[in-house]
Amino acid sequence: MSQTILAELEILKQEVLACRRCRLRDGCQQVVFGEGRPGRLVIGEGPGAEEDRQGRPFVGAAGQLLDKILASGGFDRQVNAYIANVVKCRPPSNRVPTAQECATCLRHLEAQIKILKPKIVLLLGATALQAVLKTPQGITRLRGKWQERDGIYYMPTFHPAALLRDPRRKIDVWHDIQLLVAKYREVVDPNHTSPFC
Ligand code: URA
Repeated sequence: MSQTILAELEILKQEVLACRRCRLRDGCQQVVFGEGRPGRLVIGEGPGAEEDRQGRPFVGAAGQLLDKILASGGFDRQVNAYIANVVKCRPPSNRVPTAQECATCLRHLEAQIKILKPKIVLLLGATALQAVLKTPQGITRLRGKWQERDGIYYMPTFHPAALLRDPRRKIDVWHDIQLLVAKYREVVDPNHTSPFC
């Protein structure tokens, strides 16, 4: 990661750590800013219990599945994926963040996008889809369909937690990851290799 990106992310991180714009910060242990490497951005909903404990995104059961999903497309969060969430603080009892909480926290995610300048973004689940693309449409309707905004390609797909609840949806995510690999080869790295496609 270039020194400029690192420095800008660090400044933003300090701002986010100090943020008190909503009540979520009162109930969580720590802010989960996001981590990884630029290249492709993966956006989830918000930290769960394990993420809140460790201060890192997607480190619980859903995170382990996410790592496998990324690996199936030849991606690795240590190498070519940056992981962040719509809300940076864990909602109480892992409830879905409210539209108001998402809208309040979105400035931080938008600032991350501005710094990271991803060409491709994977949106995990309805919260990420609706908050980032500012659409009321559901994930079932839009998953697997590229959405282009300001030169960035967004691929909505099911959240790994939904796959843990209903493994039949894995086949859809498999399909979406194939589209992701094809787009990654087209706009980022023509030599990208993936184990399955
Ligand atoms: N679910 C999310 O949406 N984000 C995380 O960081 C963990 C679980």
